[in-house]
Amino acid sequence: MVSFMRCHNSDCAMFSDSRDAPSKVGWIPSLPIRFGFPQKDLQLSMKPTSPIHTFQVCHVMEPNQNNWLRSGWIQRQAAQRVYVEMRFTLRDCNSIPWVSGTCKETFNLFYLQTNEPLPAATRFRPSDYSKVDTIAADESFTQTDLGDRVLRLNTEVREVGPVTQNGFYLAFQDVGACIALVSVKVFYKRCPSTLRNLASFPDTVPHMDSSSLVEVRGACVENAEERDTPKLYCGADGDWLVPLGHCICSIGHEEMDGFCGACNPGFFKAIAGNTKCSKCPLHSSSHDQAGTLCHCDKGFYRALKDPTTMACTRPPSAPRNLVSLINDTALFLRWMPPSDLGGRKDITYNVLCQRCDGSDGDGMTQCEACEPDLRFIPRALGLTGTSVAILDFASHTNYTFHVEAMNGVSGLVLSALNRMNCLFCGNIKCIPKSQLLFIIFDCFARLQEQEQLSYSSTRTKSTSVVVTGLRPSTVYVFHVRARTAAGYTAYSSNFEFETAADGMNVKEWELRSVVYSVSNGHTVSVLTFCLPVPFSGIKTYVDPDTYEDPTQAVEEFAKEIVPSYICIERVIGAGEFGEVCSGYLRIPGRMDISVAIKTLKGGYMDQHRRDFLREASIMGQFNNPNIIRLEGVVTNSRPVMIVVEYMENGALDSFLRTRDGQFTVLQLVGMLRGIAVGMTYLSDMGYVHRDLAARNILVDENLVCKVSDFGMSRVLEDDSEAAYTTTGGKIPIRWTAPEAIAYGKFSSASDIWSYGIVMWEVMSYGERPYWEMSNQDVILSIDEGYRLPAPMGCPVTLHQLMLHCWQKEWSQRPRFNEVLSFLDKLTINPSSLLTLVNDVQSYSHSPEELPDYPLFISIGDWLDSIKMSQYKNNFLAGGYTTLDSISTMSIE
Ligand code: ADE
Repeated sequence: MVSFMRCHNSDCAMFSDSRDAPSKVGWIPSLPIRFGFPQKDLQLSMKPTSPIHTFQVCHVMEPNQNNWLRSGWIQRQAAQRVYVEMRFTLRDCNSIPWVSGTCKETFNLFYLQTNEPLPAATRFRPSDYSKVDTIAADESFTQTDLGDRVLRLNTEVREVGPVTQNGFYLAFQDVGACIALVSVKVFYKRCPSTLRNLASFPDTVPHMDSSSLVEVRGACVENAEERDTPKLYCGADGDWLVPLGHCICSIGHEEMDGFCGACNPGFFKAIAGNTKCSKCPLHSSSHDQAGTLCHCDKGFYRALKDPTTMACTRPPSAPRNLVSLINDTALFLRWMPPSDLGGRKDITYNVLCQRCDGSDGDGMTQCEACEPDLRFIPRALGLTGTSVAILDFASHTNYTFHVEAMNGVSGLVLSALNRMNCLFCGNIKCIPKSQLLFIIFDCFARLQEQEQLSYSSTRTKSTSVVVTGLRPSTVYVFHVRARTAAGYTAYSSNFEFETAADGMNVKEWELRSVVYSVSNGHTVSVLTFCLPVPFSGIKTYVDPDTYEDPTQAVEEFAKEIVPSYICIERVIGAGEFGEVCSGYLRIPGRMDISVAIKTLKGGYMDQHRRDFLREASIMGQFNNPNIIRLEGVVTNSRPVMIVVEYMENGALDSFLRTRDGQFTVLQLVGMLRGIAVGMTYLSDMGYVHRDLAARNILVDENLVCKVSDFGMSRVLEDDSEAAYTTTGGKIPIRWTAPEAIAYGKFSSASDIWSYGIVMWEVMSYGERPYWEMSNQDVILSIDEGYRLPAPMGCPVTLHQLMLHCWQKEWSQRPRFNEVLSFLDKLTINPSSLLTLVNDVQSYSHSPEELPDYPLFISIGDWLDSIKMSQYKNNFLAGGYTTLDSISTMSIE
């Protein structure tokens, strides 16, 4: 029989077992606690087979009972509100004879808070304890029959506290009842860790004050991203309430049982959201888990504006059944649509014409474009119908017409041979369309005195023209257009030049022509334009720092814009001086222009304002399709703003990172070409950029790349890549030539080095140059001759060009105009881009081991370069058509 130990204001902290020697059994000091009291076996009628240990007391006959049972020290842990659940039986006094007056039907619950357990020898003092409550039974048991006791178990729960110290003791006081305490559970409530709306919420203890909720912020599960901050509130009863916000599965992942699982191979998800992964559209596949895009199968393509959910398509087959009908003055061509439209509806046709007059001395036919002499109705290019009328033929002339079908992905295909279709009007050979487009027949340069109606024009078959007889102190405007087999190109943008009063620069101009292949998403078209270039040696860029008052430079080179003409739409970024926004420039009477607006934040100092506007006074001096165009400035009101043309695709590095692997080599070369055009212009102007990097190139909606970020050519404060060198300068080490790092020798040759790095960034889709190497390691390894290897899938020719740009000796690096003409040659000869570095064994990565003539890709180029052009025909006649074959040539 176990009884509560009787205590008289004294040492009854423990209990004793009448069978055993007195023992100390503390309570398990952790929460929540469930335990019985391991003292006395009592067969409960509910579970007769499992013995239950209880504490019992039943001194109902004796008056003035005061028996205590005390727990061990219980650590509070995280609990704010503590609960005690007591399970007990209590005998009804009426059922016991002769006890009236002494028998009780309640017991008391007490507690004592302490920060530490009391020393073992501490005397028990009931007066230290605070009463929680008097506990009475809901049910009592009556001994109806000694052999068949009916036992009713009571469960009572009380809240103890508030408990603010580190732990506490519980104590039970009996004042003369017949009780069996079966179990005591001490616990606190908490909201259990849970997942809700793709966010996980940790175990949370409710607030001490039951009327306030605990706000808990959830963390998005793996591969999910936050939309509205996910939140739950933990209530006093341990229930989660009021779910707010949510997370969504990232690209390549979909919701599965409250988590975000990867899309299976063959499926993709291009946008974050709680939609399912979609099956790859027709003619595309994804081979890995978590596909964000399905790559087109071989021979199929996706145009820039095609949604990722659209099937991949291919160029159409050739138009069919081309027929001609001739009357006295006109030729009518009619054809049928291709049998295979390539899976697209945006089919158009180009009618290309050649006039071939006899043959030259070698028996080769001499051909030239028929346009502009012929008239095409409705037009020659971009026809949506299947017929055309052609007028104004010259007599006694053979004409050859090619009708080609194009669609939105034709521009993405290197070879156009499969689309050639010819109509013979004479006996000349068909020329594959891909070659035909790039033949420039001649250039027309038009020179006009500014604001005069009359102009003079010059036609030249060479790529330059000399203009003489210009008047002093006169503004002239040049435009140039070229004639190719595809017809006339548009005129180049105006190039204005003012002749000096003393006639010093009056004498001549050189017009250079280049071929420009543009993929606009629908056709591969050819723009040819000629660049007027002032005599070499004339520095046309004026450094704003040379002005005594730099605001004069701003006034001179930048237009002041009326602030109310600027409509700001949204913030797109943050610069060193303030926010960058996008919006419109709405000048009355003119079309709206999309613009980016750089603002100077308030509270600036004069020096900040000057540094900020310095960029505008530099940019305002440039006028080139591959240099970001300055629209104007706002300097007379606040905020001070610089307004430039808006580039839809933002910075080139991040643009490429998000479009990994999605462009053809020809498209990437097109981007590099644009940058080279811009840099050729800048270097011709005598401007050194110093921070040429993909992050400082902006990309428009047609993939045209433009050089930007001019303000920093002196300070480089805004570039997070710029680091201080030992000489105190701040330099973007990975992009900068060794001589510029070592002793500050910045020049167009050091810009060329940076251009090589940009080439590498482009061909690797925005990879970080030298990856995670430290700046110091980069400097050391460059000094030891190490150079970046070719990115995956990079044509050999392009990597060789990079290595040329990274020659240690700056004078041996190519010039920007040479880079440009090299890229043009690659564009015209797409087959030169087909050999990838991975295909070539023992490929050198060092500029020292470059072949002597890596930039010349045809025999003709090579002979031109060594001034032996007159032998071209002999070489060709001898069967020497590649540079490789020359290396096997004997002296004979
Ligand atoms: N970020 C900085 N300048 C920009 C521009 N001109 N267009 C788009 N984004 C830009």
